[in-house]
Amino acid sequence: MHEQTQEITEIILKAKERAVKETGNEPEPELTKALSWPINCTVGPGLEGAIACETKIGYVNGAKGWLIYRGYNIFDLCAYSTFEEVSYLLMYGYLPSESQLSSFKKKLVQYRQMHHTKRLLMSFPIEKMHPMAGLRLGTTLMRQEFTDVDRENYTSNLVKIISADEDSIPMETKPMGEEKAIYEFKQSQREKIIADDLKQASGFESCFHLLAGVATLTGAISRLRQGAMPIENDESLSFAGNLIYTMTGKRPTPTEERIMDVSLILHADHGMNASTFASMVVASTLSDVYLSVGAGIAALQGPLHGGANERVIEMLNEIGSVDNVKSWFEKKRAKKEKIMGFGHRVYKAYDPRAMVLGPLAKFMTKNSNNGKKLFKVAQALEKEVISTLGKEKRIFPNVDFYSGIVYAAMGITAEFYTPIFAVSRVAGWTSRVQEYMCNNRIFRPRAMYTGPFDKEFTPINQRGVSKKSK
Ligand code: CMC
Repeated sequence: MHEQTQEITEIILKAKERAVKETGNEPEPELTKALSWPINCTVGPGLEGAIACETKIGYVNGAKGWLIYRGYNIFDLCAYSTFEEVSYLLMYGYLPSESQLSSFKKKLVQYRQMHHTKRLLMSFPIEKMHPMAGLRLGTTLMRQEFTDVDRENYTSNLVKIISADEDSIPMETKPMGEEKAIYEFKQSQREKIIADDLKQASGFESCFHLLAGVATLTGAISRLRQGAMPIENDESLSFAGNLIYTMTGKRPTPTEERIMDVSLILHADHGMNASTFASMVVASTLSDVYLSVGAGIAALQGPLHGGANERVIEMLNEIGSVDNVKSWFEKKRAKKEKIMGFGHRVYKAYDPRAMVLGPLAKFMTKNSNNGKKLFKVAQALEKEVISTLGKEKRIFPNVDFYSGIVYAAMGITAEFYTPIFAVSRVAGWTSRVQEYMCNNRIFRPRAMYTGPFDKEFTPINQRGVSKKSK
């Protein structure tokens, strides 16, 4: 292994050592057992605490700060695996053999080619759109180019299966999920779904297509925003290396390639977060995986979710120097403003992903004055937040706090931090959608109505200007 990339592995293993010391070793029994519906759980605003489904894909222990994909802890995957291997693991449920991995990589290389989609993309004002909006558009264009979904007489395999199984599906069910309301696809039906080819818009192949394609789109959008033409993928590069190459036009160093790979692994899956849930909600209506990934991209873009990484760099630049950190933070705290890159719905401990990305940011910036300065501001802010909000509210840095510093050191501009998150999260979105589709039930919560009843209708010509109803 290259000497520099060996140093990266050591950084990751050190982070693992720290995590093991700080976080102990027991899963939460109430969140790691088979479900028997209906379940009792306490639900807070924003569906906090709600259990939406069962999964074997990944587990986040928020109290202890663990992240597990298919049974493997995130530190081992970062230290010893690659993004391609981790994507395979998430999708199929097991680590691939050498030949399985090699054909999977070949498939991704093949699916990266999307000349027609790239050409179509160029007919839109991409350079004026946020790259996340461009990505969302791009996935729709992929759907148009590669699937038959909008052609005449198209019937999705999923719809066929559901129709065939119609008798066993109660069309209207009572709210508490009686036994009859739960139905399962039989294994043979699952196999039919897997056998979908690219022309179908919801099979495994479409998921791999999106995994490769969202990376290609990110590269193309990055070039177009620089006023340059998209460049061809380089088949000899890894998924991570090719992503940097197609975005920046520069061949990555082994260190950059390895660190991007680690970052992609860290972002690949994370429980029922907002974007994963959004993509699952769309899929649960028997829409298709292209639109479902589009929904994931839309949800990820917001600053409370993946969009935070772009805001973090703006915030660190605004602070400017270590000397300003304390006063800047005090002002924000006094106004009760959120500090980007901190806090998490689930983690009430240090986010394990930040435990890796923090030291990697330090490593990446060690030879650059600007980078070092930015990193020092980040470190000083972390100290302030942890000693105050950390103690009071269990608020710690999350995955978005250090990732931007790492990408900036590779010459990647801030508006691409969230798209890189999206490139990786396609693995999680599509794996969870496929898993959920094996036992699909449309997501359909309810709201508590607190409005009035029995209002009398007044025709428009007899209405005055009414005030907003309370
Ligand atoms: N800075 C200051 N205070 C905070 C922060 C923060 N970043 N996050 C939460 N709090 C406070 C919040 O003001 C509230 O205080 P109080 O109880 O006194 O009103 C308390 O902590 C609970 O906050 P919440 O907003 O109800 O928590 P939530 O679980 O709904 O939100 C969160 C989680 C991630 C949206 C939130 O922590 C936040 O807005 N963080 C900043 C944005 C960010 O970094 N997002 C990335 C999240 S991780 C990766 C990802 O999902 O993409």
